[in-house]
Amino acid sequence: MSTETARTTTIHDLIGGQPVIDRLVEAFYHQMDTLPEARELRAIHAPDLGETKRVLKLYLMQWMGGPTDYSAERGHPRLRARHLGFRIGTAERDAWLLCMKRALDETVAREDVRHAILQAMAPLADFMRNQPDPEDEA
Ligand code: HEM
Repeated sequence: MSTETARTTTIHDLIGGQPVIDRLVEAFYHQMDTLPEARELRAIHAPDLGETKRVLKLYLMQWMGGPTDYSAERGHPRLRARHLGFRIGTAERDAWLLCMKRALDETVAREDVRHAILQAMAPLADFMRNQPDPEDEA
């Protein structure tokens, strides 16, 4: 019997691991700090983004198939529950994804990989919405 284990290449490995994820998160919050479209999104975040950056780096490392330090430190992500304290509607979702798209463009070399990451993140960002659209209200 073979003792070999199947190894799959993770997104984490494919993009270059922790150094690239660190750059991605720095670029993401730089976009949030500077893009006019993200002004209101930035305003619901803490003034000092140090801890927020640290935690998003850990989360994304785990989400992309890398080391699971996020869950070791914080338990199950329960990401939607953790976002319930913030008003997140379509505008916030779209601004978040715009910052992420621009950050990916800056930091991940391969276009097909950038596309795959954004495709996987879009439903997650949509799931964070906890406010009805204005047009949904009768
Ligand atoms: C869709 C719009 C989103 C908005 C408006 C939003 C907003 C926020 C805010 C305000 C915080 C608290 C940070 C602080 O106070 O500085 C936070 C934390 C966090 N967000 Fe989001 N977020 C969104 C989507 C996402 C998505 C799609 C992900 C994952 C890919 C994500 C991952 C995280 C993580 C990991 C934390 C830290 C949670 C923890 O404390 O463990 N967020 N988010």
